[in-house]
Amino acid sequence: MAFGKIGETLSALEIFDLVRADLSKVEREIGLESISAVEAVNYINQYLQSGGGKRLRPILVLLSGRLLGETSETLIRMAAVVEMIHTATLVHDDVIDLAKTRRGRPAINVVWGNHTSVLAGDWLYMQAFQIALRERQFPLLDVLINLTQMMVEGELMQLESIGKMVAEDQYMELIDRKTASLFSACARLGALSSGADEATERRLGEYAWNLGIAFQLVDDILDFTSREKILGKPVGNDLREGKVTLPLIYALETADAQERKLVETVLADGNYDQVPFGKILQILTRNKGIERAQQLAHSYTEKARKIMMEFPESPCQKGLMSVTDLVTARDR
Ligand code: IPE
Ligand code: IPE
Ligand code: MG
Ligand code: MG
Repeated sequence: MAFGKIGETLSALEIFDLVRADLSKVEREIGLESISAVEAVNYINQYLQSGGGKRLRPILVLLSGRLLGETSETLIRMAAVVEMIHTATLVHDDVIDLAKTRRGRPAINVVWGNHTSVLAGDWLYMQAFQIALRERQFPLLDVLINLTQMMVEGELMQLESIGKMVAEDQYMELIDRKTASLFSACARLGALSSGADEATERRLGEYAWNLGIAFQLVDDILDFTSREKILGKPVGNDLREGKVTLPLIYALETADAQERKLVETVLADGNYDQVPFGKILQILTRNKGIERAQQLAHSYTEKARKIMMEFPESPCQKGLMSVTDLVTARDR
């Protein structure tokens, strides 16, 4: 397969082709490792694994590992581990957010209830750690445990800010914890699996951290601009759930008193009964909230690309460069 000329970017399919064989091993690993003596765990895990999902985090692990070395069993297992941790956080997140849909299907809290879902999430976390533990490598565990704590702290901080106005720096800390930290960990786990030195591991981590920030910014933009059919989860959901995200933070900087009042009404009501969603969209557009958030997302993918340019050219380096375009151009 040709990987194009220098500086040329790869399409989603070309990126996927780079990791297709490894990714199917990752899926197999997740399937094999999702089996328990308790039946409920099995059917929930099956529901989760078959529910789609972009598998962006395992792809990051694989590309990062192969940027610096050969594919290996450790690399495959680390890719499975991050997807399982990601899934566990989504399960808990959906319980906390009272989500109805995920990946275009009923969220697991809707199907099995909150109690079962919390325990299923716990089981997944522990299984992921068990797989990692088998590698007998403290640096891997170090990354994973720090990461999980960061993410849980992020979710806790988010809970505290529900229904409240949030400042830009507070918002940035939140998305750093709940999303960028996992992206960064993916790249670092890939680097560690390939025996990279500390400086390279850190640099690759920074690349992915910037990508992760952009990813969450785009997620928060899509929450306003996408359609449920494409997104696989409802739109306008963040504000309904009491979450003030960056497009809104920006818009409120220039919004007039009346517009501000309308946003506060939705925030207080937790629904769009008094103020329709379209009105909120208008406020966002008029005050350039979406536009400014998009610009910021671009500046983070730009940083990620700059870092990736420091690495020698190779198919995986191109893949990692091109992932940045997918993140900003994605619609789900
Ligand atoms: C959802 O992540 C959670 C966020 C960090 C916004 P993804 O959009 O990667 O979820 P799936 O795995 O593709 O469903
Ligand atoms: C990301 O936050 C979730 C986690 C990192 C656990 P969101 O609450 O924005 O994710 P979605 O929108 O439910 O996928
Ligand atoms: Mg959520
Ligand atoms: Mg979201």
